[in-house]
Amino acid sequence: MCGIVGYVGHRDASDVLVSALTRLEYRGYDSAGIAVFEDGVINVAKSKGKLKDLVEKMDKEGKPKGVAGIGHTRWATHGEPSDINSHPHSGARVTLVHNGIIENYKELKEFLIKDGRRFLSDTDTEVVAQLLDHYYNYISDPIKAIIRTTQDLRGSFALGIVFENYPDTVFAVRRESPLIIGVGKDENFIASDVPAIIKYTKDYYLLEHDEVAVLSADGVKVYDTHYQPVVKTLKTADWDVDAVGKCGYPHYMIKEINEQPTAIRNTVTPRVKDGMPNLEECNITPEALRKIRNIFIVACGTAMHSGMVGKYVMENIARTHVTVDIASEFRYRDPIIGKGDLIIIVSQSGETADSLAAMRLAKQKGAQTLAIVNAMGSTIAREADMLIYTHAGPEISVASTKAYMVQLAVMYLFAFELAFAKGTIDEEKYKYYTSKLLETPDMVQRTIESTTEIAQKISTQLITADSLLYIGRGLDYALSMEGSLKLKEISYIHSESYAAGELKHGTISLITQEMPVIAVATQSALYEKTVSNIKEVKARGAKVIMICKESDDVPGDVADCVLKVLDFEEILLPMLVCVPLQLIAYYTAVQRGNDVDQPRNLAKSVTVE
Ligand code: G6P
Repeated sequence: MCGIVGYVGHRDASDVLVSALTRLEYRGYDSAGIAVFEDGVINVAKSKGKLKDLVEKMDKEGKPKGVAGIGHTRWATHGEPSDINSHPHSGARVTLVHNGIIENYKELKEFLIKDGRRFLSDTDTEVVAQLLDHYYNYISDPIKAIIRTTQDLRGSFALGIVFENYPDTVFAVRRESPLIIGVGKDENFIASDVPAIIKYTKDYYLLEHDEVAVLSADGVKVYDTHYQPVVKTLKTADWDVDAVGKCGYPHYMIKEINEQPTAIRNTVTPRVKDGMPNLEECNITPEALRKIRNIFIVACGTAMHSGMVGKYVMENIARTHVTVDIASEFRYRDPIIGKGDLIIIVSQSGETADSLAAMRLAKQKGAQTLAIVNAMGSTIAREADMLIYTHAGPEISVASTKAYMVQLAVMYLFAFELAFAKGTIDEEKYKYYTSKLLETPDMVQRTIESTTEIAQKISTQLITADSLLYIGRGLDYALSMEGSLKLKEISYIHSESYAAGELKHGTISLITQEMPVIAVATQSALYEKTVSNIKEVKARGAKVIMICKESDDVPGDVADCVLKVLDFEEILLPMLVCVPLQLIAYYTAVQRGNDVDQPRNLAKSVTVE
């Protein structure tokens, strides 16, 4: 969703802002804009479309010249994508950019209209700009005016602000929406996320709710809501610039697929001591695990799909009841939860509005919360009772791959720990499973190498399909959900994933020669059953692509194409099999000529509900 940046220093601010916004493109957007102080005057350039459209416009009409300014990529919520609705927005002497949603913007707008103000755009953001200008008119201190304005706002916001009378100063404030302050030498930054500024500095502050930051070239000051100075702790990102570049790969998505072995290693190895998982540094002790009654895994999109795998694994080996919930459903269905229940919130960004709201609801109802999060210092990470960071590094492609992979890895670590604590597996099994998990980085690497070519061939057969079906049972079904989502997100081919045994209760009526079926059958106990279901769709003309283990002997008449993955501990096979599913989606999208890393209408970080 919307990305915010701000800069004050000695470089060409327009260039820095555009370069930083480029690093936020992954969040998804449909227009962009910047505002830069030019000889003390705020000069705005904005355009519908991508950043290259903004740059072309500035090449034609002139680029704002100066050393301080703010920038924005907008994912439309209030009003269509257009030049006028693009940020920055201005009141008379105030110009700002905004990420978030102002829930009470209508009533504020009515008040401002009655006060004689006129609006140019349909956005909630312009309301904030006008309101701030309104207060600034009679509280001439910008910090006090910001504090007063935020008292009137309901909803979420991260704001980058410039005031006409304060050249080369950038102000910022946030509530709910993410914002960091980048600290450089004789230059400082604001950004929605660390990758935006990593080219310039790795040092940053996290801004807390309602804190106001004031940035000049030589320093950053932060104030609380009582206008008292706040001492911030400097954090340092441990990624290098390569982590946010493509490093020779044509797309971030394929780079990130290839980074999966490293991501698993970074996530699992530090959590294994003496051959056994140890999650005590995450505040998770065997005593606490033994007390858990029910587990709810709550998340959105891909993160929710990792929870589906988690459910099968936890129920299977730890014999604990696990419910997987879509966060936007969970939060409004008055869930029956309380003391003794554990709510696991899974989120790459740690900022997803529905997941965050679900976690807060769970806390309110007295349940314990455990967050599995990739983005350091994100809101979900900060508010959870227990926290396991996944160490995927920055994931730029909107379609999630390596973040999903490490979410799976954590599901296993947690399931093994839970099972051992509850006594449903003995020490020997516990150590055995852990040793197998430690082998997964190498196995995933080998899977990438051994399945790329065949995934490319399969995708050639899919590019003309209008619709396809993924089927599987048990863990294979859980995994197919993610395979199907990946394909539809980036190839724009409709696809569904279905429990293979449920097909004949309706969905089989869709089967024709035109509908390819990807059947995943890697679990020995369910293999024969799934093969029967495959035969049923085959008999009705479907083209079947079957994914199974190397050692499986597939009769010639079962599938049109067989993709085999390495034999491995079956419970861990989802970590291997997700690789060809990701590759099939990737190569299908590439061959259809789609924008793989920034698929239409999608945002990486969904900070509105
Ligand atoms: C968006 C992204 C998905 C992601 C989902 C949940 O829809 O496009 O890739 O799975 O949000 O995001 P989270 O950051 O909470 O994992």
